[in-house]
Amino acid sequence: MIGRIKLSDIIFSFSRALDFINPVMTNHHIRVAIIAGEIARQYGMPNNEIANIFLASTLHDIGAFSLKDRLDTLDFEIQNPQSHADKGYLLLKNTDFDLLSDVAKIIRFHHLPWADGKGAYFEGESVHIGSHIIHLADRIEVLIDRQRYVLNQVREISDMIKTKAGSVFVPDVLKVFEELSQKEYFWLDAASPEIDQIIHDRNALPDVELTIEELLKIGRLFSHIIDYRSRFTSVHSAGVSAVATLLAQMIGFSEIECRMMSIAGYLHDIGKLAVPAEILEKPAKLSVEEFNVMKSHVYHSYRILEAVSGLDIINTWASFHHERMDGKGYPFHIRGNELPIGSRIMAVSDVLTAITEDRPYRKGMTGEEALRIIEDMAKNNSLDKSIVDVASTYFRHLNDVRLDAQLRAGEEYVAVRQFMD
Ligand SMILES: [Fe+2]
Ligand SMILES: [Fe+2]
Ligand SMILES: [Fe+2]
Repeated sequence: MIGRIKLSDIIFSFSRALDFINPVMTNHHIRVAIIAGEIARQYGMPNNEIANIFLASTLHDIGAFSLKDRLDTLDFEIQNPQSHADKGYLLLKNTDFDLLSDVAKIIRFHHLPWADGKGAYFEGESVHIGSHIIHLADRIEVLIDRQRYVLNQVREISDMIKTKAGSVFVPDVLKVFEELSQKEYFWLDAASPEIDQIIHDRNALPDVELTIEELLKIGRLFSHIIDYRSRFTSVHSAGVSAVATLLAQMIGFSEIECRMMSIAGYLHDIGKLAVPAEILEKPAKLSVEEFNVMKSHVYHSYRILEAVSGLDIINTWASFHHERMDGKGYPFHIRGNELPIGSRIMAVSDVLTAITEDRPYRKGMTGEEALRIIEDMAKNNSLDKSIVDVASTYFRHLNDVRLDAQLRAGEEYVAVRQFMD
């Protein structure tokens, strides 16, 4: 049913998706991981620490949801960096996943200046050296001009970094960087398009297989990154996940299939990371051109999830949510019997949830109004009638479960929002 899913596959695919928010910085997270991992290794850190630093690097700007946040991080002298670092920390801490608890702490201080030693502590607590290593790796990556050949930039980048010795960067870590910067491979790796090969060669992440519970936690974590890009969608995936899971249960899916459905619900819109915020937040109906861009989100969801082996079924349930029974959906135009039941459940759950939510150009409808709409869509052979019938029969319960899930998700959103400026 569900294949063996490796942590490293998920992290690499999702880490790349994180960079969709800012297309100028394709693979920024992984490039920082490659640089930071190498510095940590030369610094003589044990393998498990290198793995934590590598993992933290692949997710370090997870708390920078908007393009503005992302563009700000590109400025070498970044203003107010703590806000996105705090948000990232909170998100990871709230996932309550052991493997990510050290990573959360490392990410929290990935912009903390060394301040001649004061940066070894924050409010009395010691700061992981990995935070300082990522800080350095991140600033190096930002300084590399992607339009120019990397080896011709070594001198100027090194000089720039050196001006911050002691004040921003840890002198001992800088020593390691200076040695590495003499070696061409260090820079060629940092700028190489052969990311997969380098990652494979470094073997930097532990070969951990995820349990379904852990996958659920990672799914929830990413649902926040997807949803928090716009306050209008801030609890969307939580609602879709809850509705889809309950419908699957009512239709007779097994317990494990229901869990898979929850995960698919959390991730169904992961491709929206590739849709610009101006389109997500546009206070009017989308133009044809804008809608064309919006349509791509399901295609991207499919490609992101496809890169993770073992997720095949979850992928079809998640990424076919805009396919329709009559074949008039998108982007694959799969019709009727060829659409897996799980995908049809997701389609119903997505419409039902989305139309109860406010959008910049319209108010959300009541649950009952939303039910009318999906009933009409079933009549027109757009949504699966048998699933819509189940939704109608148990509508009260379904709607309560949705409201409750979205209410709880809203509380979490408010807690993270306090760090937004
Ligand atoms: Fe950052
Ligand atoms: Fe969608
Ligand atoms: Fe959706």
